[in-house]
Amino acid sequence: MYKIAVAGTGYVGLVAGVCFAEVGHQVTCVDIDNQKVESMKSGVSPIYEADLEELMRKNYAAGRINYTTDYQSAYKDADAIFIGVGTPEQPDGSANLSYIATVARQIAESVEKDCLVVVKSTVPVGTNDKVEQFIQDFLVKDVKVEVASNPEFLAQGSAVHDTLHAERIIIGTESKWAEELLTKIYEPFHLPIVSVNRRSAEMIKYASNDFLALKISYMNDIANLCELVGADIQDVAKGMSFDERIGSKFLNAGIGFGGSCFPKDTKALEYIAKQNGYELKTVKAAIDVNKEQKTMLYKKASKRLITFNGLKVAVLGLTFKPGTDDLREAASLENVPLLLEQGADIYAYDPVGAENFAKVHPEGKNGKGSITYVANIEHALEGANVCFIFTEWGEVKALTPETYKKLMRTPLVYDGRNIYRVEEMQEARVEYHSIGRKP
Ligand code: UGA
Repeated sequence: MYKIAVAGTGYVGLVAGVCFAEVGHQVTCVDIDNQKVESMKSGVSPIYEADLEELMRKNYAAGRINYTTDYQSAYKDADAIFIGVGTPEQPDGSANLSYIATVARQIAESVEKDCLVVVKSTVPVGTNDKVEQFIQDFLVKDVKVEVASNPEFLAQGSAVHDTLHAERIIIGTESKWAEELLTKIYEPFHLPIVSVNRRSAEMIKYASNDFLALKISYMNDIANLCELVGADIQDVAKGMSFDERIGSKFLNAGIGFGGSCFPKDTKALEYIAKQNGYELKTVKAAIDVNKEQKTMLYKKASKRLITFNGLKVAVLGLTFKPGTDDLREAASLENVPLLLEQGADIYAYDPVGAENFAKVHPEGKNGKGSITYVANIEHALEGANVCFIFTEWGEVKALTPETYKKLMRTPLVYDGRNIYRVEEMQEARVEYHSIGRKP
């Protein structure tokens, strides 16, 4: 078993650290925030993620994982240091690598024995070459430090499961020593390992995410055409999915992809291409379609209603997808301001995302309109003139069509997640507008 340090305790770092401890390694997670470190020690996770806290407590009690702000003691005798800090998008679409650079410098100044630095964060192709050079330049002790790329494929909401049962582990290395060490670290997971060079590993991450983003945008594009020609996108997707070359996953049309990954990684790859004098037309199309798609329902509703002014608008779901409290690039963040500008009185329901949303849009009067957060879906729907569904939470899916008919003043529903069958809404006499299906 190996001594592992993990830099950064966000989705990538914390989940990786906990999973390494779970398979038996000795892990120290490093973060700059002392309060966060203390709460992690008591088993409280800074992120909402299924199974995570249970494994944090179990492995902390077993002495396999610890948390600290003292990076020097964590890095000095580690066999491997995993970097999982953020690479946020900059205004021009490029990735901000300043967090990685800070960690790289700390590593260079701390390590006292040979060690492998493993970058899990998503970084532009070629970055890890630079990180290695950067560490060499600042290295204090005469020890061997190499950098490997080991991109992460976990999805929020199922991060622990995705890590422990990953479909593949990608390791990108430039030496036998690094390849063997990283392979051994992953051995206890018993998962398929794809070993490539560092630049290919970096590219695999972008190419995979952007392919999935493209798949979604393609389905959204086709969905919009389906509406115009009288076809049904769900039937179309079902028919397509039997072809194994297409596959059955990620064919759901909706109000566009959000989250911290697809929007950022599509723009980053487009930027990388541009920097290299190449235009990545397919990825650009995925970005353009997604931008339009986010406000598709709002535009439809604006045509149907004369105004939102003074209307009670129920908003069901705020997060970018279910199972997370993350709001990054969520459709709600684009639509709610538009509705408020029009004077809507919004009643918003989200089982876990409301608190974060209230930080951006505090409860009460907001511009011409207002926003109220409710803990109960029925309260959002009672007397509402119109309802928007932005996230397919289980609690929202569990509502019957009759509930909308019974509770709303006007049963008018705009569903961005195609939760209901068109026919069942028609039978319940709910005016139902969704994506890629006839109203
Ligand atoms: C995504 C990838 O799925 C992970 O493999 C990857 O590791 C991760 O990014 C990352 O780079 O860290 P995530 O952003 O957590 O994971 O969420 P997804 O479940 O992929 O959903 C992203 C967005 O696409 C959501 O807004 C979701 O509603 C939307 N989506 C997904 C659709 O509109 N249709 C679909 O069929 C699937």
